[in-house]
Amino acid sequence: MIESDISLSTTIPAPAAKMVHIETWGCQMNAADSERMLALLAAQSYQLAPNAESADLVLLNTCHIREKAKHKVLSRLGVLKEIKERRPGMTIAVAGCVAQAEGSRLLKAAPQIDVLLGPGKIDELPRLLREHDASGKRAQAIGFHRHAPDPTPNLEAAPAVAPPTLTGKHEVSRYVNIQQGCNNYCTFCVVPFTRGRELSRPAAEILAESAALVAAGARELTLLGQNVNSYGSDLTTKPSFASLLRSVAALPGLERLRFTTSNPHDFTEELAELFATQPRLGRYLHLPVQSGSDSMLLRMQRKVTVASYLERIDWLRRALPDIALSTDLIVGFPGETDAEFADTMRLVEQVRFGFAFMFKYSPRKNTPAARYANQVEEKVKEDRLAQLMRLQDRITTEIHAAEIGLVRPVLFHYESSKNPGQYYGRTDHFRLVRVTSAYPLTGQVHQVRISSGNKVGLIGDLVD
Ligand code: 5AD
Ligand code: SF4
Repeated sequence: MIESDISLSTTIPAPAAKMVHIETWGCQMNAADSERMLALLAAQSYQLAPNAESADLVLLNTCHIREKAKHKVLSRLGVLKEIKERRPGMTIAVAGCVAQAEGSRLLKAAPQIDVLLGPGKIDELPRLLREHDASGKRAQAIGFHRHAPDPTPNLEAAPAVAPPTLTGKHEVSRYVNIQQGCNNYCTFCVVPFTRGRELSRPAAEILAESAALVAAGARELTLLGQNVNSYGSDLTTKPSFASLLRSVAALPGLERLRFTTSNPHDFTEELAELFATQPRLGRYLHLPVQSGSDSMLLRMQRKVTVASYLERIDWLRRALPDIALSTDLIVGFPGETDAEFADTMRLVEQVRFGFAFMFKYSPRKNTPAARYANQVEEKVKEDRLAQLMRLQDRITTEIHAAEIGLVRPVLFHYESSKNPGQYYGRTDHFRLVRVTSAYPLTGQVHQVRISSGNKVGLIGDLVD
């Protein structure tokens, strides 16, 4: 799961009986869940509203991974309350991990909420809205999906028609959810409490949805789960993640297949070897390490050591010597000493990740680490984060500088809305590239000669 602080606002003007505005925080899982909710709402004749002010339904899909993410939701609910006072018919729905984790506390803090639903209950959104419309009372569904081993594939959950995108535009790159929840209980992480235990989606559903997305024009798919490498271990036939990847990769018309998030503990050599034999897999992997210190990894309950993490990197580099890697890192986990932090800095130097998501540790209620006595001071966390970011920025800049003069295949994802004629895409190493072109490039793969780069991305020119 790559968590980011971006907030996607969906805006598209269209006349309709009912208008919905969705705001999505957090990881790609939430983005995929928002698309699923949008598909359910579209089936009830909802259309995207240009903004919250003109929507009949405002849906916040929330993130609880760090305290900051939660605060953003509360402050947005304050603004929505004012809008609702001016437009009493408006419905406010809160979905996602804050809804699940905070439940009644959230309702007390924000009584303007009409509908509350946890990430395991998103399919109940239409029913909850009907109940609220009929009674005027608050409707809610919190809790986890019941674990039914080998559920019958529900091909309605993977309709032949691709779900709408959150931007309302045709998108080149789409997400496919393959698994809910996580069984790992890393001591810092709230996910097992907000998304429950692992539940794999039957492969037939995943394949049907993937095929529908490709038929609708997607050229790149990303298979999503909190721990994709353990995909299938809860199903009685125990299909491996590698076999799922092979099936999806074989879909005609698909250009690139990516997947996230991989937990190093469950990452197998068989999977690493797929990078050598499956060109559609691209030349990139996100493999969160969190820390470069064995004692920290033990206290985080990551179930790997630095040596076993490096062994996985070796498997990958043996399969594909130039594979690009990214990671997640936490600084200031309880008890982290200067020496343990220095171990993380050393690991980052050694592996040379293409980029990294770096976070200050944020204590989360119910997680073991929040109760650890030796919490690190905010100032120390800030200093360490700044040091780590400086180091990673230098490495990213060096890696990008080494790209100058090379020719890379780029799949173009979109045209800049601010600067028409500027197209953004990604190399198969997942590096962001900007190209100026008089002809439309979105959805196409072109050879691009890289002319410059900085810590954010690359600029290049079309070769063909
Ligand atoms: N504090 C800081 N970062 C966290 N992450 C997860 N939980 C926390 C927390 N309590 C980070 C991890 C994870 C990413 C999605 O978010 O690095 O891999
Ligand atoms: Fe959280 Fe660990 Fe599960 Fe990732 S593997 S979602 S960090 S508990």
